[in-house]
Amino acid sequence: MGDKRSRIIKALKDAQESPVSGEELGLKLGISRTMVWKYIKSLQADGYEIESSPKRGYVLKSVPQLLYPEEIQMGLKTTLLGKKIHYFEEVTSTNSIAKEIAASEEEGALVIAEVQKGGRGRMGREWVSPHGGIWISVILKPGIPLRHASRLTLVAGLAVANVIRNMGLDSRIKWPNDVRINGKKVCGILTEAKAEVDRVDYVVLGIGINVNMDLKDIPESFRAGSTTLKAELGTHIKRVSFLQDFLFELEQQYILFKTQPFSHILNDWLALSDTIGREVKVTTPSRIIEGKAVGVTPDGALVIRKADDTKEEIIAGRCIY
Ligand code: BTN
Repeated sequence: MGDKRSRIIKALKDAQESPVSGEELGLKLGISRTMVWKYIKSLQADGYEIESSPKRGYVLKSVPQLLYPEEIQMGLKTTLLGKKIHYFEEVTSTNSIAKEIAASEEEGALVIAEVQKGGRGRMGREWVSPHGGIWISVILKPGIPLRHASRLTLVAGLAVANVIRNMGLDSRIKWPNDVRINGKKVCGILTEAKAEVDRVDYVVLGIGINVNMDLKDIPESFRAGSTTLKAELGTHIKRVSFLQDFLFELEQQYILFKTQPFSHILNDWLALSDTIGREVKVTTPSRIIEGKAVGVTPDGALVIRKADDTKEEIIAGRCIY
């Protein structure tokens, strides 16, 4: 089904608004004109604006502004990420679904939703996920020790920051996982892993990017300190091509992660860090540590130099500055 739908969309797109007859589409796909018509009906129901005239054929006038797998996969330059996409209009959390299916999925499969009703953030917090954002979970099977799984948070943060920088915005990374623009959060990352003994079976990289929402779409209690790409650029963003660019960038960084010493990623991450060099206060479930952020260990822990000049490494916590 998916493949035929994609081929019909592609044929109509390639025709660039000149009509394509049902007969021609049928011949191309090896199906009857009636089947073509059924596919056209289902595409129209999904928001594809397709004009049809019995004499001339079908003309694609516009595509829906949704993250449909067919749209993402058409022109996607990756070789691993996004070959399989599970798409939902609404879910509780893409990470929860990804974890349910990860064991039987191939590496690189994605879960994407337009809306999350129970989006999850780090440290048990809620992640507000209305229409207009990108809420996605990437299933990876890197075969690394569990203690290295947090490195993938840095990999994803770097990829998001790079792709936003390519749009001309000065995006930076706040330890451990916030991508910010002008000091405001535009993206959060929730990495979850399952391991047997010490090797990870899978890692789910959950990435939430505030793209086309208006700030008023974010409840007031979450709004302070948040921004969206649309608010920063002053223009609507084409989510499909933004996501394609992001997936390509993430794949490039993931390849580096697997083939090069981690210091490569770490150095690039440090160059975009918003945190290093600042006086910070980090809250962990058991205590608060204050001092100057002076580095990040290869496992992603923040190194803080305290007032008594001793250093402490913090693997997880909420960082304030
Ligand atoms: C944070 O900054 O606290 C992390 C936020 C992570 C949000 C993303 S959206 C897609 C995926 N599904 C979830 O429920 N959470 C992550």
